[in-house]
Amino acid sequence: MTPGVAPDKPKRRPAMKSAFVVVANRLPVDQTTDPDGTVRWRRSPGGLVTALEPVMRANKGAWIGWSGSSDDGDERQEPFDEAGMHLIPMQLTSDDVEEYYEGFSNGTLWPLYHDVIAQPVFHREWWDAYTKVNERFARAAAEVADEGAVVWVHDYQLQLVPEMLRALRPDLRIGFFLHIPFPPNELFARLPWRRQILRGLLGADLVGFQRPGAAANFLRLTRRMLGHQTQADRAILADGRIVRAGAFPISIDMAELEEIARRPETEARAQEIRDEIGNPDKVFLGIDRLDYTKGIGERIKAFFELLNEGELSPEEATFLQVATPSRERVEEYKALRNDVELLVGRVNGAHGRIGRPAMTYLHNSFVRTELAALYRAADVMVVTPLRDGMNLVAKEFIACRYDNTGTLILSEFAGAADELRQALLVNPYDVDGLKQALLQAVRVEPREASRKMRAMRRYLAEHDVDRWANTFLEKLAGRPEL
Ligand code: ADP
Ligand code: G6P
Repeated sequence: MTPGVAPDKPKRRPAMKSAFVVVANRLPVDQTTDPDGTVRWRRSPGGLVTALEPVMRANKGAWIGWSGSSDDGDERQEPFDEAGMHLIPMQLTSDDVEEYYEGFSNGTLWPLYHDVIAQPVFHREWWDAYTKVNERFARAAAEVADEGAVVWVHDYQLQLVPEMLRALRPDLRIGFFLHIPFPPNELFARLPWRRQILRGLLGADLVGFQRPGAAANFLRLTRRMLGHQTQADRAILADGRIVRAGAFPISIDMAELEEIARRPETEARAQEIRDEIGNPDKVFLGIDRLDYTKGIGERIKAFFELLNEGELSPEEATFLQVATPSRERVEEYKALRNDVELLVGRVNGAHGRIGRPAMTYLHNSFVRTELAALYRAADVMVVTPLRDGMNLVAKEFIACRYDNTGTLILSEFAGAADELRQALLVNPYDVDGLKQALLQAVRVEPREASRKMRAMRRYLAEHDVDRWANTFLEKLAGRPEL
């Protein structure tokens, strides 16, 4: 393996010190290079960025993360300011990308933490790379954090950072939040480096999860595997230090998205989208990163069967599936793309007509105004992950339905199902159940749909991303009543 940072590279100029530092694998913007060599920044994919961006703008902190490009040359990226955020890019070499990001993060941890929907692969070289990159992130955070600063570390790619950072800077207040599920003992125990990961997380003062069950899994594991005493929401370490663990369900900036959805140009674009797909009576919508955890194939199969059986016709209902390109060099993701695209081809081959597909499939990334128009154009949002930490798409759909219209079909296995109880909850493995839910959503009484949407909107208005961040940060700061 190539060491992450070559010793002869020029040193970064001393960074500005911050009282609040976020450390995440990704920066909120991704660096891309056009064929003519022009370098551009665009929004990074995924729920972590969606949730953290408004928090960072409000807190004026520094954000340490990878810029999305791999760099084997000498070119270094300097810290820069973007949309009110101070961003500190971390360099990854192509070996790091392969072994730390695509390998250990997305070939080992991602499938292991998502119910082993795909087989996790265990490679010692990947673990070594994960350790080294985590060390580099920890060193960068130690350099940027002011005396006594709050450092908030995010997600499965950086689980060793809390322990490493505490060793470098015991003066810091360290929080960790896991955006994805945390597995039960039966799955976690397979990980050859399970104790190191637990110790890594225990470097934090507060470890946050999406669901209470995940926090309970974590505390149980620290007791069983490391022998720590646990009491209610805390683990007591050998030196007496207390680490707290709890559930902090993440959310979205509802007001911001609703404002975009209400714009006349968004409504006009939503109408245009409906016209372009042939003005069916009902539009089903799926918006996901193209990931095997999202249950995209299952929902298309259910729709296909309904068309095959004549329960639905393409005039009555079409399916619009947006799939954001994701982790495209990882084998499982390549295979998934082939499977999904084959299935879409079958549906359209069997039920489309000239100029009138039964399904529209877009493998692309979109700006938020276009996403809001899509959410407005839909009648039924179909969110059927096989396992998902939260799923912000479900919440975004609700944020855009300011007129209380529309139906949400939601998997029981998404964290969001704990909160959005009025959604049509489904088991995505049950194709017949999915079919029933699709039909039910198409035939629902408007008054019934509106009652449910209103209740979910009320809940979300109170539980937005600010509340998520404030609750976590106040608990981290140790407010005694929390
Ligand atoms: P995950 O974090 O696993 O990707 P989430 O549903 O929690 O899943 O978050 C996905 C985020 O990515 C949402 O904020 C959603 O709006 C955004 N997103 C999904 N698809 C696209 C797309 N095609 N273009 C731009 N943003 C997208
Ligand atoms: C999920 C993960 C994030 C990740 C995002 C996009 O939301 O929890 O940590 O950033 O997916 O995935 P990517 O691999 O492109 O960063």
